[in-house]
Amino acid sequence: MTDRTYTVDDVKANAPEIAPADLVEWVTTIANLAKPKDIFWVDGTDAEWDLLTGQMVESGMFTRLNPEKRPNSFLARSLPSDVARVESRTYICSEKEEDAGPTNNWADPKEMKETLGRVFDGAMRGRTMYVIPFSMGPVGGPISQLGVEISDSPYVVVNMRIMTRMGTPALELIGKGQEWVPAVHSVGYPLIDAEGNERPDTTWPCNDEKYITHFPETNEIWSYGSGYGGNALLGKKCFALRIASTMAKRDGWMAEHMLILRLTEEATGKQFHVTAAFPSACGKTNLAMLQPTIEGYKVETIGDDIAWMRPGPDGTLRAINPEAGFFGVAPGTSYDTNPMAMETARANSIFTNVALTDDGDVWWEGIDGEMPDHLIDWHGNDYTKSDAEAGKLAAHPNSRFTVPASQCPIICPDWEAPEGVPVDAILFGGRRATNVPLVAEQYSPDHGVFIGASVASEVTAAATDVEAGSLRHDPFAMLPFIGYNMADYWGHWTELQEKLGDKFPKIYQVNWFRKDEDGKFMWPGFGDNSRVLDWIVRRADGRVETVDGITGRYPKFEDFNLDGLDIGEDEWNALFETDPDAWATEIDSVEEYFSKFGDRVPASVRGQLDEFRKRIEAARAN
Ligand code: OXD
Ligand code: MN
Repeated sequence: MTDRTYTVDDVKANAPEIAPADLVEWVTTIANLAKPKDIFWVDGTDAEWDLLTGQMVESGMFTRLNPEKRPNSFLARSLPSDVARVESRTYICSEKEEDAGPTNNWADPKEMKETLGRVFDGAMRGRTMYVIPFSMGPVGGPISQLGVEISDSPYVVVNMRIMTRMGTPALELIGKGQEWVPAVHSVGYPLIDAEGNERPDTTWPCNDEKYITHFPETNEIWSYGSGYGGNALLGKKCFALRIASTMAKRDGWMAEHMLILRLTEEATGKQFHVTAAFPSACGKTNLAMLQPTIEGYKVETIGDDIAWMRPGPDGTLRAINPEAGFFGVAPGTSYDTNPMAMETARANSIFTNVALTDDGDVWWEGIDGEMPDHLIDWHGNDYTKSDAEAGKLAAHPNSRFTVPASQCPIICPDWEAPEGVPVDAILFGGRRATNVPLVAEQYSPDHGVFIGASVASEVTAAATDVEAGSLRHDPFAMLPFIGYNMADYWGHWTELQEKLGDKFPKIYQVNWFRKDEDGKFMWPGFGDNSRVLDWIVRRADGRVETVDGITGRYPKFEDFNLDGLDIGEDEWNALFETDPDAWATEIDSVEEYFSKFGDRVPASVRGQLDEFRKRIEAARAN
């Protein structure tokens, strides 16, 4: 068959007038490679949302939810082979392998471009190619960045509309000559082959061959074969973390896998801003929307997944949420665990891989109330109590809601402040059944970086190809998201700490997930995590002292607000127990992990290993 050839003039004729020549040329090049049937320039309007969601309902890719229960909301079901990020198919294509570092899959950029040239050739035959201009961060803000995603998936377009500032305002800035990151995506399911044979579309087109690739030296992203989440919504993990982390290293800022919240102490009106890094699916959305169980504080949400932080003119570290929506894990979310997320998802939302009720609403494991007698599960099959009893899940463990952040009832009035909010404390957490106390403060900035570098966590369902439940090192919760050598990244943190001096926030290690010998969680978590924030805030203000421990400085029992909890001094001590022998084993594993990075580990981080060992030995001697 003869494919349509696109000339720059063809593409320009159908592009918005403000589209600059370099963008039109790039779109033309990609069109001639991927060979779509037509090109659609996305403007981000409501009319466009209605058009695309309507088309997707017609094609079967979306089910419209009951407009009375869940207005303007939709359900999508993916294929079981495409349900999460695929870390084994995610590549950093830097010129030198050592610049990607031992934690990333590296591919030679030239070779990867050849592979991509092969798989993208004709990948969009028979499909529409969408051109999606977007801003990460408020449009035009000093910390924000622009991008353009090309995708053959309308699911991507409508999700990007929620997750980013998508459409004409971003294109206007690109038209004025601001830099932008090019990101190319295809689900890899052309509807016509090179010989001209046609095949019907499916409700979740994708390809078994997947490549999620990043070219940090040229700021490019190419993703092929998956339509799901972070593999396909390229503004999120690919841009806002992997590419942004490399931009940040070059330009002296930080792109972090962190939520951002504001805590206001009602008695004084003082505001504290906290960022917190946790590995995927460890409750960042819950913490970001925390409902304090103690009196005296108000929490407001700024972001639930990613923070971009830059030194501000006053020398403080300023954070913005580059995203405009939340792509949250559905199972376990309820009015009990996270009422604010439930409220955020009441309308204008997209649900992926959750179950459908007979009255056209969504359901997942852990949502409020009894399970209805009948559901359609995430595979599209009937599902009843006997399926539940047989251990089958109605919603996939990594099923998601995509919801506009602006709908969150406790969204911070300054969540879109372009200059960001000043950060007062940084938390690192993980899912740790043993060893790691409820909260510990850094001994020094170097120790803070060491805390981040030595985070380990039990693996969750957010990626398909890592064994759930196993313990893995996940430094700074950035293991799947750092765009360059992880050890150089630790050095970058140290440099920024040095630059900001006393103004660099203190670092705390937290662990909500400690279990007792019977396997029961020792800390109630959720709203009660406000007690930990309360202590951190009073500590930041110099109102409470600490006791020295193996992993850091701990609160004193008498300073910590445990009112109304069934936690006495014994339970408290158990939450803070640090067995020196267990730590001696853990520190060996940290040292072995660090040895992967050879001499790229900053001397200050290495020095902290020695300090740690000294504290272990001192505890043993006691
Ligand atoms: C996410 C993740 O989706 O971290 O946020 O996997
Ligand atoms: Mn995340």
